[in-house]
Amino acid sequence: MEQKRIYVDNAAATPVSRAALTAMLPYFAERFGNPSASHSYGQEAKRALEDSRRIIARLIGALNNEVFFTSGGTEGDNWILQSVCEQYAHKGRHIISTKIEHNAVLRPLERLGSRGFTVTLLEPDTAGMIYPDQLRKALRDDTILVSVMAANNVVGTLLPVKELCAIAHERQALFHTDAVQAAAHIPLQVRSLGVDFLTLSAHKFHGPKGIGALYAHLPLTPVPLIAGGGQEKGRRAGTENVSAIAGMAAALEEGVQNLAENMKALSALRDKLITEFLKLPNVLLTGDREKRLPGLASFIFEDLEGQDLVARLDEAGICASSGAACSTGSIEPSHVLTAMGYVPQISRGALRISLSHYNTEAEIDRIIEKLPGIVEKLRMKRRRL
Ligand SMILES: Cc1ncc(COP(=O)(O)O)c(C=O)c1O
Repeated sequence: MEQKRIYVDNAAATPVSRAALTAMLPYFAERFGNPSASHSYGQEAKRALEDSRRIIARLIGALNNEVFFTSGGTEGDNWILQSVCEQYAHKGRHIISTKIEHNAVLRPLERLGSRGFTVTLLEPDTAGMIYPDQLRKALRDDTILVSVMAANNVVGTLLPVKELCAIAHERQALFHTDAVQAAAHIPLQVRSLGVDFLTLSAHKFHGPKGIGALYAHLPLTPVPLIAGGGQEKGRRAGTENVSAIAGMAAALEEGVQNLAENMKALSALRDKLITEFLKLPNVLLTGDREKRLPGLASFIFEDLEGQDLVARLDEAGICASSGAACSTGSIEPSHVLTAMGYVPQISRGALRISLSHYNTEAEIDRIIEKLPGIVEKLRMKRRRL
C-alpha cells in the first residue's frame, strides 16, 4: 500500500485549514458582491471585509483602521519601504536593515539605493542573530527607517524585535518588521513590540495564498503604492479579495487560539528531529539553538547538495526544502547562509524542515528513519564520482 506523503515545507506554504476554507466559501459564489457596491450584495461583502479587519486587528493588538489588506508579504514589505522613503525623504535618506531579510525587503532596498537612499545592512552572527549594539552603532541622525524581520525563513532564528525597535525609536527612526514567518507561530502584539509597521502573509499560517496585511501605527499611514479606486481608505486601490480576506482572518484566529499548545507540540517534534539528525556524521544545525521558530529545523549536510537531498526525500514521500522557497529551482546558495558565514561549498548542503500542527510524531519518526539511508547513499555516490 502506498504511504501518505509527508509535507514538511510549511515555511514555504501551509495547507488551508478547514476553518479558513469554510470562512472563504460563501464569498466566491453566494455572497460575491463588490464591497464598494451600495446594494445588499455589496453590503454583505463589506461586512465580511470589516469583520475580518476587526478580527485581525484584535489578534495583533491593533486598531481596526491600522490594518490594510495587501496581496501578501511581498507587497506589504515593498509598500512600507517605499512609502516611508517617499514620506520622510526630507528628514533623511538612510535606512537600516539586515543581510538575512527576505528578498521582499532586500530587492526594494536595492531599488531605493539606486534612487539616492543609503542602505546599511547589518551582518548576522553565525546563528543568524542581530544584536542591539550593532543597531546602536549603525543609527545616524539621518536614519529614517529600520527594518528587521521577526523570524528568519531559512534558519528560523527569532530576532530581538522589541529591543531593536526601542533603540531605533530613541533615535527617532521608524521601525518595520516582516512578521511573515512569525505570525501565528510565536506571540505577536504590535503595541508590546512597539513597532510602527508590520507585514503579514496568510499562506504561512493555514490561510490562502495571495493575501496579507500591513499594520501601520496611527497616526502613521502609508502612501499608496497602487493607485486607482478609493479602497482601503484610499491607501490601496483594487477590489478587495473578500474570500481570501475572510480566510486569512479565520486562519489567524485559529492559529492564535491554539498558539501555546501548537508551540509546545511543534518544539518537541523539532527538537526530536534536531537531536536525531545531529547524531549523523557531518551534520550541522543552522540558526540559533534556542531562539528559533517552534516548527523550524534547519541543517547543513557537509559534502552534500541540498537539492539532491530534497529530490531523494521527495522520492521517499517526504517534501522538504533546501532553503527559501523563492530560491528553489536555482542552486545558488542562500544569501542568508552566506551572510551567516557559510562558504558556498558548505551552504549548498542545506536542508530545511518546517513543521505545522498537521504533522504527527509518526511522520517525524518516519523522516528520522528514512534520512540516514538517503544521506549514506548520496555520500557513497559522491565518493564514487
Ligand atoms: C520572511 C518572508 N517575508 C516575505 C515573504 C513573501 O511573502 P509572500 O509569499 O506572501 O509574498 C516570505 C515568503 O516566503 C517570507 O518568508
